[in-house]
Amino acid sequence: MRDEGMAIQYQCDEVSNILGKSEKIREICRLIGVVAKTKATVLVQGESGTGKELVANAIHAHSLRANKPFIKVNCAALSDTLLESELFGHRKGSFTGAFESRKGRFELADGGTILLDEIGNMSFPGQAKLLRVLQEDEIVPVGVSTPIKVDVRVIATTNVMLKKASENGAFREDLYYRLSVVTIFLPPLRERKEDIPILVNRFIQLDNCRANRKIKKVSNEAMDILVSYNWPGNIRELKNVIENAVIMESTDTIQVSSLPHYLLTENRQKTIPPEHEFNLKMQLKTYERQLILKALNKANWVKTRASKLLGIDQRNL
Ligand SMILES: Nc1ncnc2c1ncn2[C@@H]1O[C@H](COP(=O)(O)OP(=O)(O)OP(=O)(O)O)[C@@H](O)[C@H]1O
Ligand SMILES: [Mg+2]
Repeated sequence: MRDEGMAIQYQCDEVSNILGKSEKIREICRLIGVVAKTKATVLVQGESGTGKELVANAIHAHSLRANKPFIKVNCAALSDTLLESELFGHRKGSFTGAFESRKGRFELADGGTILLDEIGNMSFPGQAKLLRVLQEDEIVPVGVSTPIKVDVRVIATTNVMLKKASENGAFREDLYYRLSVVTIFLPPLRERKEDIPILVNRFIQLDNCRANRKIKKVSNEAMDILVSYNWPGNIRELKNVIENAVIMESTDTIQVSSLPHYLLTENRQKTIPPEHEFNLKMQLKTYERQLILKALNKANWVKTRASKLLGIDQRNL
């Protein structure tokens, strides 16, 4: 494979599986290393599929709580009525249907970490109760009058701009400030395209094992398309596309024909419309873009090497 070994080289560390060589990803890995050792509440913010859960896993794995429980809660999937008893537990008979006493997720996470996924979707009553846990380090199970002390590290994720939501009243402002003691912003994949080849090669390795295939590389044309596409679904979308391509491809090289059609049409939209076919400026610009992408790919997205290939100053790239 063209970039064999590259994936391992660009892995944050052996534990976290976070791949990338972009400055943004390296900065995130550094931050994970620093905050993991503290009990600070962390808010992980980013579009869907950017790796928020992966980051939360890494924080827990690097913390002093690594061999204590790591409990995940999908706040979007919990209705208002379920939320309180799910998070804080209930005692037998506290409401219709509470036949047994049950520990909530906070109690189950005691000593460890709780991941509150999609916190932006939590109801207002839920937010009020959560604020109390963060302030007092104690929970009140449904049907119980005395609070219980818990020692839980909270990590929350969101794909909405929580600050904005708190400013326009859609999320409690005091809770936002409590949650965002440390905020980790995960950039969309389109803002760190230099990571695409690394991710592609790692996903091929994984899918080769999973699907018992022997794909060796990606053709330059296919890689150009993968790099130019905008990836609204971010890394999850890329992962799916590669999984599919590994299955569909009949040679040892992923060709354009094994990529989903929408990637190609998206790219074609960026080509020149027929009425401007002879517009010299437009044609030159398109050619320039293609050549730069080709050079960047050849140079594994190392800008100094690409600019050398292109015979231009790196600052002009
Ligand atoms: N930097 C990365 N290196 C390798 N794999 C990654 C990276 N970031 C994300 N992934 C992979 O992409 C997929 C999506 O990641 P994850 O579930 O963490 O995203 P998310 O931000 O939580 O998405 P959502 O908002 O939809 O819940 C996972 O399979 C994950 O392993
Ligand atoms: Mg997630």
